[in-house]
Amino acid sequence: MSHQTVIVLDFGGQYNQLIARRVRECGVYCEVKPYTTSLETLKDMEPIGFIFTGGPNSVYDEKAPHVDPAIFELGVPVLGICYGCQLMAHTLGGRVTAAQDDTAREYGKTETYYDTACKLFKGLPAEGVSWMSHGDYMEKVPTGFTLVAHSDNCPNVAIADEIRGFYGVQFHPEVNHTQHGTDMIHNFLYEVCGAVGDWSMGDYKNTAIRAIREKVGDGKVLLALSGGVDSSVAAALLAEAVGNQLTCVFVDHGLMRKNEGDEVEAAFSKWDINFVRVDAETRFLLKLAGVAEPEHKRKIIGEEFIRVFEEEAKKIGRVDYLVQGTIYPDVIESGAGDAAVIKSHHNVGGLPDYVDFKEIIEPLRLLFKDEVRQLGRELGLPEYLVMRQPFPGPGLAIRVIGDLTKEKLDTLRDADAIYREEIAAAGEDKSINQYFAVLTNTRSVGVMGDGRTYDYTLALRAVTTSDFMTADWARIPYDVLDRISTRIVNEVPGINRIVYDITSKPPATIEWE
Ligand code: XMP
Repeated sequence: MSHQTVIVLDFGGQYNQLIARRVRECGVYCEVKPYTTSLETLKDMEPIGFIFTGGPNSVYDEKAPHVDPAIFELGVPVLGICYGCQLMAHTLGGRVTAAQDDTAREYGKTETYYDTACKLFKGLPAEGVSWMSHGDYMEKVPTGFTLVAHSDNCPNVAIADEIRGFYGVQFHPEVNHTQHGTDMIHNFLYEVCGAVGDWSMGDYKNTAIRAIREKVGDGKVLLALSGGVDSSVAAALLAEAVGNQLTCVFVDHGLMRKNEGDEVEAAFSKWDINFVRVDAETRFLLKLAGVAEPEHKRKIIGEEFIRVFEEEAKKIGRVDYLVQGTIYPDVIESGAGDAAVIKSHHNVGGLPDYVDFKEIIEPLRLLFKDEVRQLGRELGLPEYLVMRQPFPGPGLAIRVIGDLTKEKLDTLRDADAIYREEIAAAGEDKSINQYFAVLTNTRSVGVMGDGRTYDYTLALRAVTTSDFMTADWARIPYDVLDRISTRIVNEVPGINRIVYDITSKPPATIEWE
């Protein structure tokens, strides 16, 4: 079945996948294509609309990306965002100049006034906050365009040529900070492009299954199962696509939470798939002995994972493909394109240079966490699995700060189990998206009974977030924190002090390493 398609033309913006995600959220199929894609190819896709993304350039930069002006002759509506807006204005005969002073350069949340007679803003409030991030300024708009939004500093925040269906906004409607941003994208799709909403996560599932079958043929597939949401959803997808050609390997690296290895085995050995649990605790701890630097730990774990898989693959014989549950935020934070490396997520940046498989398949690579959960439901996974909080691939290795020992890991496991138990008992687990304990490498003096102690400090982390790319620290009630602290210090030897992490992301990250 074919769908109406919208093409997001990528000019190197930070938020281009977020735009695609918003379009999908509105029930419209969408593909992100680089701006270098030929006009012929774009035409062949028969899009109902184009969205031009933002980008780091100024239209006058020597190397600034451009479009074939004939794209504006196709009779297909265009929404230009930030750089995309300036590029459209520039290409159609307007004038864009670098802002000389602060009056025209805008960054951050900006009060914006909209012309609600314009289709883009139809049915929305005439005033609201938008998220700006632009240095260039549209000095003269092209013929046929009118101004449809302004801010206190800038007269031309949005432009429209309603006859040709061309719209441009200087702000980013795709980010949460822009009030009614998704509604504006919805208006562009439904009011301007004539979208009918013929796409859903069920379609994504079917398309992904078809693509996997086509690629894999009768080859054998190995999947790295951690028991977390992403790899479980990937497993369900692959199981449906290729059935018993799939073997799921669960590497128990000894860095799991308390009892987790047994729980994962219990859950998945019930499924009608080939399931293998590899007990690799000793070999991981040996490799990690004496390693304190976080990136180094991550690389070691990433590499060792792959080596274990390769060995398992050899036992199965002729395995062609390795599947990983990489999701989009992992890709960005490991440094995709020009974005900076924050952490090497073990399933992306942590990969060794040499991988002994024909290919790695990452069927969730373009999805955000909540989309992955939705896909999981679509595949019939139980709610408890779909709603599990994320757990990083390198496991507790990045929650024991500094060098690792089995003893430290066991201490953290016990403390973390109490923390999670009390959070659930208090009913706080519904509103907190991720919570866990971190064993710091700081020791301090305490007094217990009549004696002096010199033990470790445990940090509690809890965050609320929808996409895990930004997060706020959770306001856990003091009495709950009190219960957790008292229980851990009383029940877990080696810990005599508890602190609560009150930093959001950014500037911190969710994990400590
Ligand atoms: P940070 O610490 O970067 O974490 O704010 C964002 C989210 O990603 C999880 N995380 C990982 N997940 N492999 C994973 O699969 C990793 O290497 C990894 N590192 C962090 C983290 O738990 C949080 O949900």
